[in-house]
Amino acid sequence: MATIRFTVNGQARSVDTEPERLLLEVLREDLGLTGTKYGCGEGQCGACTVLLDGRATFSCVTPVRAAEGRKILTIEGLAAEGKLHPVQQAFLDQGAMQCGYCTPGMVLGTVALLERTPKPTETQIVEGLNGHLCRCNGYHRIVAAVQHAAAGKRG
Ligand code: FES
Ligand code: FES
Repeated sequence: MATIRFTVNGQARSVDTEPERLLLEVLREDLGLTGTKYGCGEGQCGACTVLLDGRATFSCVTPVRAAEGRKILTIEGLAAEGKLHPVQQAFLDQGAMQCGYCTPGMVLGTVALLERTPKPTETQIVEGLNGHLCRCNGYHRIVAAVQHAAAGKRG
């Protein structure tokens, strides 16, 4: 057992846990942050994506010890002051979700993508979200939502 300390959605947190436990498990089971989804559990679908110091990270293959002293952003921390993040709003406006299971991961993956590449081409969007699977096959609307969010960012 170890005490692991990190910041989650702007709040300092600590958990007493086995350091090899998966970050996904700790977020969902210990901290109640169930917006982060378990999909494949093998780093193949992106459903479990969180931002670790701003970088999109698959929490299903990340031991919690890797988060020590770092900043984690989950989908629960994205809206601010009662307002959706522009990427969340774009997904909503474009109807870029069906069952919604992939959506938290897609949204966080998009936030990271637009940080790196504020004006992505369609190819860059597809490449940037490569690794995020949508089993409802909503890719067309997802790409449209990313374009919409990027356009919003440009003002
Ligand atoms: S659940 Fe983590 S990548 Fe699929
Ligand atoms: S909306 Fe169902 S998996 Fe993407």
